[in-house]
Amino acid sequence: MSYPVLLTLHLFAALIFIGTVFFEVLVLERVRRMVPPDAMRVVERAIGTRARSFMPWVILVLFGAGIGMAAHYGSALAHPLTSLFGLLLTIKIVLAFSVLGHFITAMVSMKRKTMTARRSHFIHYSIFTHMVLIVLLAKWMFYLH
Ligand code: HEM
Repeated sequence: MSYPVLLTLHLFAALIFIGTVFFEVLVLERVRRMVPPDAMRVVERAIGTRARSFMPWVILVLFGAGIGMAAHYGSALAHPLTSLFGLLLTIKIVLAFSVLGHFITAMVSMKRKTMTARRSHFIHYSIFTHMVLIVLLAKWMFYLH
């Protein structure tokens, strides 16, 4: 697949993924304080079901396109300490795989019914922080020299 197609797929998948995480942290966390706990539980369950139905596909496209693009930067990634671009791209990819780890942990916890409010809160804020750093690195790696 050509680089522009991979980039377009990666960008759209990133928009959906980052948008969902930002919505959960910036909107839903505040709404929780304004809505009775029982009603909130129903809403969260419905959002969780909806998100679980499409998010694995979004992640597949995000990582598939990302890995396809990374193949074009093989030499920079093979020697990450010889260029700032290679270093920042490497950190971005490590953070992306850390996000994947968070996502799998959340899925497994929900399936095993071991997800607590505390764990969910931690996972949301941690992924949110990862997202901010990934977006900054995705842009800075081309402009910092
Ligand atoms: C949580 C997962 C990820 C997110 C949210 C994410 C997000 C982004 C964003 C927002 C951009 C900028 C795109 C643009 O401005 O057009 C980008 C670029 C890029 N990403 Fe990712 N990414 C993720 C995972 C990955 C992975 C796993 C890889 C490779 C293994 C990867 C490789 C790249 C590359 C090579 C670029 C540069 C594309 C270019 O502008 O030419 N990404 N990413």
